Amino acid sequence: MINFWSYNKEYAKIKLELNSIFNSTLKKGVIFFGENLKNFEKNFIKKYKSKYGVAVGSGTDALLISLMAIGIKKGDEVITAANTAIPTISAIINSGAKPVLVDVDNNYLIDFKDLEKKISKKTKVIIPVHLYGKPCDMTKLRTISKKKNIKIIEDCAQAQGAKFKNKYVGTFGDLGCFSFYPTKILGGYGDGGFILTNNFKLYSKIKMIRFYGIDTVNNKNKFHNKYYSNINGVNSRLDEINSKILDFKLSKVSQFIKKRRMLADIYQQELKNTSLILPQKTKDSFDVFHLYTVYHKKRSFIMRELEKKNIQTRIIYPYPIHQMKAYKQIFTNKKFLNTEMKSKGIFSLPLYPELEVKSVKNICSKLKIILSKID
Ligand SMILES: Cc1ncc(COP(=O)(O)O)c(C=O)c1O
Repeated sequence: MINFWSYNKEYAKIKLELNSIFNSTLKKGVIFFGENLKNFEKNFIKKYKSKYGVAVGSGTDALLISLMAIGIKKGDEVITAANTAIPTISAIINSGAKPVLVDVDNNYLIDFKDLEKKISKKTKVIIPVHLYGKPCDMTKLRTISKKKNIKIIEDCAQAQGAKFKNKYVGTFGDLGCFSFYPTKILGGYGDGGFILTNNFKLYSKIKMIRFYGIDTVNNKNKFHNKYYSNINGVNSRLDEINSKILDFKLSKVSQFIKKRRMLADIYQQELKNTSLILPQKTKDSFDVFHLYTVYHKKRSFIMRELEKKNIQTRIIYPYPIHQMKAYKQIFTNKKFLNTEMKSKGIFSLPLYPELEVKSVKNICSKLKIILSKID
């Protein structure tokens, strides 16, 4: 079986390091807010060339806390892509704002023509989603947002390490949000997230919000202030074990990305003359291939045939946000033609650092046989 994703292969490789992390961390007896978190935060900020950064409990929390820090109020509008993960939308709704969706282009990224039409006087934030590991055109987006005085929160959950014009995603906007969900580019052994910013005010506020609104930046020496809340916050902590695991994996993340890009290249070469629509290379972008997503009208047949040959695939995402029960009342009578069309034909092939070259070649040759039957 070629799994869509597998923990076991990574675990087998780094078992010794993981055991040592467990032992050393548990021996110290510090569960939260210790040295491991401090080191990880420092290294993550350094790696992505940002001034400040705060680790939080998940990518969803990173988005919600960012919106809270910006001071989103009821009645504000937040624009994002129609073809995104549910958490981008739930974070907007939970912040009190109204989500406004924009259709996607042929790279599954925010469509700029539709974006300009959707901006209103109530628009406070735009959340570009660097989906599947491909960065949005941040030069264009920044030009639009500056003109209209709109803040940008980048959803980099799927794109850690991706670059646009040689600059890392997460450092273009006012805030950049990351996820350490296990399947992500940098995956933890549990949930986790991160917020990057170059703005000290936002950074201080985010630090308070993640810990019940308590000010740990300015009041670190006054022990009793640990129990004094300055603003309404949440509980969103990254624990010491995960911080250390993530710090260890961060030192290898460039290798993970190199491997992902190499495997994506093989898919690209092997499948280029087939009827599949493949991910496009775009000018100025350094893609990290969190997912290798292709499109075909006969997706169900292809996926079924691959499954019979023990190759797992996934649809990310099968249901557009505006058509789901939880959200459709917000978007009544709204159409997002590209998002709807793509959701009917997209599917992703296995791609992760532990996947072997021979497995990718095997997937391609099976896929070509299946495609030859339907073309
Ligand atoms: C685009 C996008 N945004 C946000 C998230 C939320 O991240 P998490 O699962 O860590 O809460 C995800 C994760 O699935 C995602 O893919």
